[in-house]
Amino acid sequence: MNFFKWFDDILPNLEKRAVSMKKIIDYLETLPSPIFILETGCLRKVNSFAGDGQSTLIFDNYIQYRGKDSKIFSVDINELNVRTCKKIVSENAHVECSDSIKFISNFNKLIKDNKLSLLYLDSFDVNWDYPLESSAHHLKELTASIPYISEETLVVVDDAPLSMIGYRDEDNNFKLTRQTKIGGKGYLVHEYAVAVEAEIYFSHYQVGYKKLIKSN
Ligand SMILES: C[S@@+](CC[C@H](N)C(=O)[O-])C[C@H]1O[C@@H](n2cnc3c(N)ncnc32)[C@H](O)[C@@H]1O
Repeated sequence: MNFFKWFDDILPNLEKRAVSMKKIIDYLETLPSPIFILETGCLRKVNSFAGDGQSTLIFDNYIQYRGKDSKIFSVDINELNVRTCKKIVSENAHVECSDSIKFISNFNKLIKDNKLSLLYLDSFDVNWDYPLESSAHHLKELTASIPYISEETLVVVDDAPLSMIGYRDEDNNFKLTRQTKIGGKGYLVHEYAVAVEAEIYFSHYQVGYKKLIKSN
């Protein structure tokens, strides 16, 4: 399979994730082999390009093009979703059923002394009316992943769009301000990223950071 021909063909189907997925692949292309990807939340619906994103399939196809020393690891708490995913991806993809925090806390056994090229956080579904629970889970995933991150690691949070901050005026009309925040799954990861002066690599429907840790 020609990865780039396939990727160009499916890119329009990714809709709100198309721009950022292209930026992710373009960034991985600048890194030397082997590539290591850790994803939380695996593909759970076949052909759900616009809905969920099919990230495990995209990363698995990319890893195969990069050669056999490169690896994709994906973790999901739902056994049925893991089974669905395993039917779609290649045998080279390591897809495991576990709580993501538990899995990441033991990840040193799998990644050994290597660092991640891409950390892709997309587990605990977000309740858009109350994103804190999901965003706290994604912050825990980032915390557990810190030992495997370098300055070059691209950290991406899915379902993390820019949100405008608003208020109610004296007539109870909703007014938008010029202030923005990252919402959804990325709400707390973004607060951490700002505090450590990480580089915001992109912000679309997904948000991507580099330099979440500083090398000495
Ligand atoms: C939005 S889906 C992932 C979609 C996938 N990345 C894609 O692009 O097709 C979210 C997944 O996270 C899983 N999940 C929820 N809580 C989790 C947890 N604590 N640990 C691991 N996976 C979790 C769900 O079972 C679900 O399959």
